[in-house]
Amino acid sequence: MTLLIKEILKLQPKNQLVTVKGWVKNFRANKFVSLNDGSTVQNIQCVIDFESFDEFIIKKITSGTSISIKGKLVNSLGSGQDVEILVTNIKIYGESNADKYPIQPKKHSFEFLRENAHLRVRTSTFGAIMRIRSKLSYAIHKFFQEENFQYVNTPIITSNDAEGAGEMFRVTTLDPKFPPLEQNNVDFKKDFFSKKTHLTVSGQLEAESYALGLGKVYTFGPTFRAENSNTTRHLSEFWMIEPEMAFFDLEDNINLAEKFIKYILNFIIEECVDDLNFLEQRLFNEEKNKPKNERNEMKLIEKLKFVVDNKFERVSYSKAFEILKNCAKNKKKKFEFLVNDWGMDFQSEHERYLVEKHFNKPVVIFDYPSQSKAFYMRLNDDETTVAAMDVLFPGIGEIIGGSQREERLKILENRMNQFGVSKKDLWWYKELRSFGTVPHSGFGLGFERIVLFATGMSNIRDVIPFPRTPNNALF
Ligand code: 4AD
Ligand code: MG
Repeated sequence: MTLLIKEILKLQPKNQLVTVKGWVKNFRANKFVSLNDGSTVQNIQCVIDFESFDEFIIKKITSGTSISIKGKLVNSLGSGQDVEILVTNIKIYGESNADKYPIQPKKHSFEFLRENAHLRVRTSTFGAIMRIRSKLSYAIHKFFQEENFQYVNTPIITSNDAEGAGEMFRVTTLDPKFPPLEQNNVDFKKDFFSKKTHLTVSGQLEAESYALGLGKVYTFGPTFRAENSNTTRHLSEFWMIEPEMAFFDLEDNINLAEKFIKYILNFIIEECVDDLNFLEQRLFNEEKNKPKNERNEMKLIEKLKFVVDNKFERVSYSKAFEILKNCAKNKKKKFEFLVNDWGMDFQSEHERYLVEKHFNKPVVIFDYPSQSKAFYMRLNDDETTVAAMDVLFPGIGEIIGGSQREERLKILENRMNQFGVSKKDLWWYKELRSFGTVPHSGFGLGFERIVLFATGMSNIRDVIPFPRTPNNALF
């Protein structure tokens, strides 16, 4: 019977016959095959007595070869592994030219592996990252299902701009060379959907409609942003989780966000022990090469536990603004962007200061100036702030953005006017406020940002299988 390496490593070795199928990591001394099948970060050592096999077969075993191995499971005499397989049968599926195979049994740079993203999952590091990504995704569904949320699928092609930021990818079937014109403008009435459409930047507006019927819902799908941000935190295509809850106010929303993040991180601390240990060791080795003052003080698992065990700091925008202003005044920290006017957008240097230096833990900032946030956020009684919240994480910055939604039609219409959002296009969104409106709230978690944090990686391009970023849609 074919078993996964993960399963074999749990067995009591007593000469039983086992079969494994996978890819050769390394073949040493014409004798030791180190095999991995993707089920675990650990390889299994398969010992070949080369005299009992055809030379042709032995020659075909190189790094990258796909192979099925049958043999007896025994206690290993060598160091480095508890069990090994004494090989009795070998079947080669696909050979791999050892000189040309990009994934050599040595450490490669992340840049090099990004150029070989079609093969990088065969490295121990990417295997570990992608298993953790998969487990996090499972934990997310598990959490919401246990909390009685319904999973809804919102459209990917849409005609509304949920965030009002205008950074959207156009979807069209018109011929760019000969578009139909009407009075010198492109006539989108002749386009596939008889109107302008785009890839969605967020499923929130549609999720709101479903929350006002199903009560508690969440989406988990791809979102697209055509912003030209070439940073280690931005993707043009990323996955977002957007819960939306009827009868939740901002505080309920923040409580849920904190409980949710802690639940999913706790889940992988328990379920991904080997992968986390592996990544921790790999990152630790990298830290050692850095100058002392730039090193991460906390190890990966310790950092995850710290987040799970400590209450997130909650602070209003106004309070955070005071902290930053005082800190700049007392010359504690020199910011590139001045902290002068209340209402300014915090830059990432400000957020990082608050999270990494001032509070030294995840921070939730709430009640933002009304002009700096989206049209749908609920106006507070002070009429200058909105019931918005951002969750900021050490080393990452914003990981969650959310708010209580404006459920009062008149005020929503005012805000749509202010922000230049089309009331005609969003007639249905307004109508939700005319028929049984209720206070409701929700937020969006950037999936890759939490994977980034959970794996301790530093570039978001390394936590999604095939990253899309400006000037890059390879593979
Ligand atoms: O703050 P954002 O833009 O909020 C929304 O889209 C709301 N509609 C969410 C809601 O209330 N339902 O995005 C939410 C999160 C951010 O906090 C960030 O983690 C992630 O999505 N995000 C990105 N992740 C990777 N690449 C990008 N370009 C991202 N833009 C946002
Ligand atoms: Mg945001």
